[in-house]
Amino acid sequence: MKILIIGKGYLGTRCAESWENTEITDKHIQTVEDVLELLVEHKPDVVLNAAGIVGKPNVDWCETNQLATIKGNTVLPLIVADACQQKGIYMLHIGTGCIFYGESPDPKGWKENDYANPSAVYTRTKYAADLALSTLTNVGIARIRMPLDDRSHPANLIGKLISFDKVVDVANSLTVVEDMIKVFYQLLAKKAEGIFHVVNPGSIKHKEIIAMYEEIVDPKHKNEWISEEELVKQGMADKPRSNNIMQSNNLAKLGISMRPVKEAVRDAMQKYKESIK
Ligand SMILES: NC(=O)c1ccc[n+]([C@@H]2O[C@H](COP(=O)([O-])OP(=O)(O)OC[C@H]3O[C@@H](n4cnc5c(N)ncnc54)[C@H](OP(=O)(O)O)[C@@H]3O)[C@@H](O)[C@H]2O)c1
Repeated sequence: MKILIIGKGYLGTRCAESWENTEITDKHIQTVEDVLELLVEHKPDVVLNAAGIVGKPNVDWCETNQLATIKGNTVLPLIVADACQQKGIYMLHIGTGCIFYGESPDPKGWKENDYANPSAVYTRTKYAADLALSTLTNVGIARIRMPLDDRSHPANLIGKLISFDKVVDVANSLTVVEDMIKVFYQLLAKKAEGIFHVVNPGSIKHKEIIAMYEEIVDPKHKNEWISEEELVKQGMADKPRSNNIMQSNNLAKLGISMRPVKEAVRDAMQKYKESIK
């Protein structure tokens, strides 16, 4: 299987480093023709769309840069899909579980086909792409949440949590990057259609992640705890962040599994400690 990854950012690069027979492009795409040229040049069997706009320094950037965010998160995936459909090439798109806010209709968590309730510009533009792409065949959507990695990166949840003086303690679903990379590969190999929640089973509280960090990496680490309302009131975020628990039923139907979240986070934390030595 020859893979072409579009978007040479954090997650695209992590996947490219781990897979064989994979090419990654940083070509800036504006039109369907731009993507068709890439497909002719690289001749992939499958495409991973890892391009998008996450906002720098953080997602609040999207609140005041709406059009750029719409172009990168809603228009771009449709352009990539259009070219892939014309060439009969399977496309896996990286979505986000942050489109779900708060309590799910089912007490076990948000399901793949639940209607989401995004409020921020970033999450609305991501969900708009999901709604459109999920009508197509030969397309998969892999929703991840709060990637937690075994190496240092500004988007790694470990680094984010320990960089804050004040942290909100909530239970969440999250995605351990090592597991994500393996699941994406299997979805590409199976040309799996539909929506997939690529999150490790179970939920974990920020307090538990920081406790593991203090136990394994740095016993001297200190932070304060704060409520979600206070976070916005004190100006540390423009919009409340999504907190949620997701169910992953469609992966199981394909026989794809991920490690339970607490086991995977502990393993990532141990590897993280080695990687920053
Ligand atoms: N990181 C997370 O926490 C997270 C969580 C859930 C979902 N996701 C999704 O995962 C995907 C990848 O995120 P990431 O964390 O890897 O972000 P990233 O590091 O910012 O990578 C995104 C890449 O997309 C590129 N890009 C933007 N517009 C493009 C265009 N028109 N044509 C080609 N490339 C373009 C960016 O290039 P430039 O920098 O040059 O613009 C950047 O290299 C995104 O769709 C994001 O929504 C990420």
